[in-house]
Amino acid sequence: MVRTLIDIRSLTIDPNCWYAVAQSAELKTEPRSITLWGEAIALFRGADGVAHAVEDRCPHRQVKLSHGRVVEGSLECAYHGWRFDGDGRCTHVPYREGSLPGCRLRTYPVREHDGFVWLFAGDPGRAHAVEPLRLPEWDHLNYIASVAPIACAAHYSYLIENLMDMHHGHLHERFQAWGAAHLEKLEEHPGRIDALYEAQSYYRIDRIWSVAQLFVPALRRAHPEALAVSYVYPHWRARLGEDFRLYCLLCPEGERSTRAYLVHFTSLEAFPDLHKLPVPFRRFVKDRCFGSAQGMLAGLIRQDVQMIEEEQRAYDRDPQRRNWEVNRSIAAVQRLWRQQKKADVS
Ligand code: FES
Ligand SMILES: [Fe+2]
Repeated sequence: MVRTLIDIRSLTIDPNCWYAVAQSAELKTEPRSITLWGEAIALFRGADGVAHAVEDRCPHRQVKLSHGRVVEGSLECAYHGWRFDGDGRCTHVPYREGSLPGCRLRTYPVREHDGFVWLFAGDPGRAHAVEPLRLPEWDHLNYIASVAPIACAAHYSYLIENLMDMHHGHLHERFQAWGAAHLEKLEEHPGRIDALYEAQSYYRIDRIWSVAQLFVPALRRAHPEALAVSYVYPHWRARLGEDFRLYCLLCPEGERSTRAYLVHFTSLEAFPDLHKLPVPFRRFVKDRCFGSAQGMLAGLIRQDVQMIEEEQRAYDRDPQRRNWEVNRSIAAVQRLWRQQKKADVS
């Protein structure tokens, strides 16, 4: 029997998932162009503020609609001013009286919650049956959020392997929230891998001023904490003790281009007195502290992206060379991808 090896670095994505294509704050009054696995998509807000996603290609002369603007809740092409609504219908042609062209843009199901615009790239009829990943900390008053974008010239599998491999704290030195990770437990489920590490956390958020540890490394003291890491296809999330939550929300652009958002939450759960204060004040604190871990995230991402892109270049130079891998969680995510691929082709 001839075994066919599945090349992980050329895997496509499962389109029947929700992908985080933009931060809500990034989608304002202008249209926004994004790419999801080779598909050019224009995002825009209708007159009621609801986010829409349509193919980024004007049916008239095939130029990008995202070069245009939003007028009266419709997306107006920059070239001749044809307009299209959120259902992809042509609503206006400036130099034509009477009936409008019957062309229709492809549209994508969109949801907006937890600070992000989520897009379903597959069969629209299946969108309601698939739940997007939720970030319950986003609106919770006890969590301070920071968001940092990731862009790397590499296949998405390298980013996921980097995120599942908690032994690479070696790379991050002063940026990393933990060190000395030891893999204790690994669970494999269809479409999901859970890895539990025991690690030394460098942070303890137990005094209001201890949030300063995010910017002042000298204030940090190592102590043992559980580090739970999950790949919930296509996204990733982690939890370090009670103090930190991390998410990586993926938007793979193509085989050698991956975009994602790293979202970090610092918990204020340890301050019961804070929670007795009026909600508007707590909201003010949450909003004022938004982005406080931005510098730390940007530093981590810079170092990770350098390694990930280097891995991709090395693979492209010689795809036959095998890695010497000792972390079982990497083998687990690779098994998940291979099983998905086999299910696709069977
Ligand atoms: S190309 Fe878009 S209106 Fe003409
Ligand atoms: Fe990292």
